[in-house]
Amino acid sequence: MKVLITGGAGFIGSNFIFHMRESHPDYDLICVDKLTYAGNLETLASVINDPKFTFIKADIADRKGIYEIFEAHHPDVVVNFAAESHVDRSIENPSVFLETNVMGTQVLLDACRTYGIQRYHQVSTDEVYGDLPLDRPDLFFTEQTPLHTSSPYSASKASADLLCNAYQRTYGMPITISRCSNNYGPYQFPEKLIPLMIANALADKPLPVYGEGINVRDWLYVEDHCRAIDLILEHGKVGQVYNIGGHNEMRNIDIVKKILAILGKTESLITYVTDRKGHDMRYAIDPTFIHQELGWLPETKFADGIEKTVHWYLENHGWWKNIINGEYQNYYERMYRNR
Ligand SMILES: NC(=O)c1ccc[n+]([C@@H]2O[C@H](COP(=O)([O-])OP(=O)(O)OC[C@H]3O[C@@H](n4cnc5c(N)ncnc54)[C@H](O)[C@@H]3O)[C@@H](O)[C@H]2O)c1
Repeated sequence: MKVLITGGAGFIGSNFIFHMRESHPDYDLICVDKLTYAGNLETLASVINDPKFTFIKADIADRKGIYEIFEAHHPDVVVNFAAESHVDRSIENPSVFLETNVMGTQVLLDACRTYGIQRYHQVSTDEVYGDLPLDRPDLFFTEQTPLHTSSPYSASKASADLLCNAYQRTYGMPITISRCSNNYGPYQFPEKLIPLMIANALADKPLPVYGEGINVRDWLYVEDHCRAIDLILEHGKVGQVYNIGGHNEMRNIDIVKKILAILGKTESLITYVTDRKGHDMRYAIDPTFIHQELGWLPETKFADGIEKTVHWYLENHGWWKNIINGEYQNYYERMYRNR
């Protein structure tokens, strides 16, 4: 079995490669990644010399390049993680989100249609459902919740999902989609909430929290997400959407305080900054369907996952130190100065 994994030098894609290496040691894994600011080949150091692993630097929106890869490797399965993934950057510059997340998905779907495939899996997000009010804790996103996007990022992800549905229905392609809640764990780029707060706390720098920090997200340890995708590839039904979530809703401010407590740092580092434009209030997944259909349940409790994550960042200082010293510094200044 040959599995082509796009975006495998990013956070979730790399964790998925490590998961697949363990759970299916006989599979050939091909990673296609453009190595944008969010992709880091160092992350794949432990597999790069594995004879059953191939890395190819390519843009999923480059039709010629992607067709050449399919011609040369004929993958059986494609899992598309490649995306521009940061909401704040989509507010600054939506164009690249449409190019990669929408046009790139279309190129991959066309390549799958041209060369034949056993399964195409689209890694989507709970953000396609929009948000839920804070005062209705009884409401959750199900697979039937209408798409109702807020940011250019979520609009681009929802567009890609609609394209997948259209290709499945029109061309009968074997497509599945998963929509997961917020992930955390090793190798997450330090612009995202949890690694950003860990890095700043370790440097005794202010911890910028949007608005009042009361926005609620449902947090899932990345390995649980990877296991869910593996199960969908093995046993999922073609044409089906699967919601993946941990029933672990937390306010941003409580996450930040938890990180400070683990690191033994003072809460006076917390600095409230002007809220993100159009900031979604609450995301909450109902994962009943994937539990009933595929027997999936999250295995890592938040209390354990966050300890493991903080310790990973402590032990892998070299991995993120290079990132925060590079181009990211300019982005950080633009985002948080004068806010
Ligand atoms: N992080 C989360 O909490 C979360 C939650 C739900 C769903 N998702 C989805 O999971 C997927 C992976 O998210 P992530 O957090 O690992 O993102 P990430 O930003 O860490 O990684 C994205 C990867 O895609 C690569 N990439 C970007 N544009 C590309 C292109 N045009 N061609 C080839 N490669 C390209 C980057 O180099 C990077 O390696 C995304 O599709 C995202 O929408 C993420």
